[in-house]
Amino acid sequence: MLIVANWKMNPESLEMAKNKAMEMKKKIKQTNAKIVICPPFIYLHEISNIFLRSRKFFLGAQDLFVGTGAAHTGEVSGEMLKSTGVQYVIVGHSEKRAITDTDEMVHEKILRALENNLKVIICVGEKVRMDNAEYFHEVKDQLMSALNKLPKKSIKNIIIAYEPVWAIGRPEKEAMQGGQIHEMHIFIKRVLKDILKLKEVKIPILYGGSVTKNNAKEIVEHGKIDGLLIGRESLKIENFAELINLLEK
Ligand code: PGA
Repeated sequence: MLIVANWKMNPESLEMAKNKAMEMKKKIKQTNAKIVICPPFIYLHEISNIFLRSRKFFLGAQDLFVGTGAAHTGEVSGEMLKSTGVQYVIVGHSEKRAITDTDEMVHEKILRALENNLKVIICVGEKVRMDNAEYFHEVKDQLMSALNKLPKKSIKNIIIAYEPVWAIGRPEKEAMQGGQIHEMHIFIKRVLKDILKLKEVKIPILYGGSVTKNNAKEIVEHGKIDGLLIGRESLKIENFAELINLLEK
């Protein structure tokens, strides 16, 4: 089970970020899950010291630069992330897609991540859900563009996070239902099998969108998914620790 904690642009200070990471380390003792903490870039270095050599906690970034070369003011490269102890990177989160990232940019960022031996968490998901099943096409198009002509050897470094945009940042009762998640999980697996020409799909598929300690178990069990991408609840350390414990049972 892979649990990704996406802290987005939180918390407000380095001190608070360090405290959250230390509290997490203290509260989550027994788990078989791999927990990937994704703080803002500026906190990565300090947080990496807290989780150094952990076999439970891993460090992830929320984005990386789309191109190569160094004359890019304000950007952070995959190489820099790697040198800071980062092992995972989120690409194509809907909040990035909303302000800058096109499908082409998402594809390029995936290549940059893989070139630097980072595991890449590729976010896909429909914006709205209508009755006409158009959402299947939307997700398929995102996957086809993201994974276009990827070298076979890099497949082991890919993780898909299915995050329906309409279910992100909502009250917990508006998270997607396990049954619907399962349906999309099967669909994504089929698309991956086709576009990557695989016999068997071992790529982990996660769900994200308003997951809390109260709905996580239902989502994992009925959604039959390989993990979760969690926003707000991952900053409430008590709740987050409880969520991880519940998944163990
Ligand atoms: P949320 O965020 O859990 O707060 O809905 C999830 C995400 O955007 O990754």
